[in-house]
Amino acid sequence: MSRKALRDLADDLVDAGSREHYSDAALYDYEYRRRRADVSFYRELARQRLGTGGRILELGAGSGRVAVPLARDGHTVTALDQSAPMLAKLRTRVADLPAAVAPRLAVVAGNLLDFELPKPLAAPYPLVIAAFNVLEHLYTRVEVAACLARVAAYLAPGGAFAFDVQLPDLTWLARDPERRWARTRFTDPTTGRSMLYSTNHDYDPVGQIALIRLYYEPADGGPGPRRIVKLSQRKFFPAELEALVSHAGFRVVGHFGDFSFAPLSAGAESQVLVCERAPIPRRKSPLRR
Ligand SMILES: C[S@@+](CC[C@H](N)C(=O)[O-])C[C@H]1O[C@@H](n2cnc3c(N)ncnc32)[C@H](O)[C@@H]1O
Repeated sequence: MSRKALRDLADDLVDAGSREHYSDAALYDYEYRRRRADVSFYRELARQRLGTGGRILELGAGSGRVAVPLARDGHTVTALDQSAPMLAKLRTRVADLPAAVAPRLAVVAGNLLDFELPKPLAAPYPLVIAAFNVLEHLYTRVEVAACLARVAAYLAPGGAFAFDVQLPDLTWLARDPERRWARTRFTDPTTGRSMLYSTNHDYDPVGQIALIRLYYEPADGGPGPRRIVKLSQRKFFPAELEALVSHAGFRVVGHFGDFSFAPLSAGAESQVLVCERAPIPRRKSPLRR
């Protein structure tokens, strides 16, 4: 196989890993039903920055785990994602919202790399968020730059861009890729069948990408669907992340290690960044000394 064919294969694998985990929105919602601290963080941040009702753009909003509570709080939310199943789930949730809340949540299909919002939603936002590892789906420096440029295009002057990604865990990255980890029994929310979940991954320390496999098998070992779902995540080390956002013209005004605004420290699971546009340095006129 040629080098190019190998590279294309690797790219396809990474791309599949940005989609497959989100193909079953009911399972996604079930798996993360207890993840609440981040929702509280983004609600509190929105309250601090916008009061009780402001405009928020959420990138990679998925099925609305964060977007729906924000809209319930009184904010007007534009929720953008590329996954059709996740957006379909979000649209059904919007349809079930009280009549006073539903019009505050707009659902938009788009890609982090090149999204353009339709005219009525295109005015600058005082708060842009990307909650729960969304930026880990930006796999190269060029992709990070492209996404941050889209954020800058829609961020109002004085506005904030907040997001969280995992703090790379060296022990996790070095796990044996042949073993199965985190074995858990659960009931599939769609079929009601008892299933066994496990996972493993390969980590490429050059591209800093983890190719994760999520295994779903019938718990009784009997016949039935066995699925291996791909999930690819780009890992960001803290100083690298600050350099990337700074290179894109942002300054970090908060770099937290959890969702209660505690400082980032060793052992943290997540790194939570709040960024603002850096002031453009004024050039000294050559005539002024
Ligand atoms: C871990 S989920 C987070 C979803 C939601 N923010 C939450 O907190 O539950 C990551 C989301 O990013 C979306 N995503 C991944 N790559 C994307 C891309 N290139 N453009 C737009 N959305 C993307 C996925 O479809 C998925 O909904």
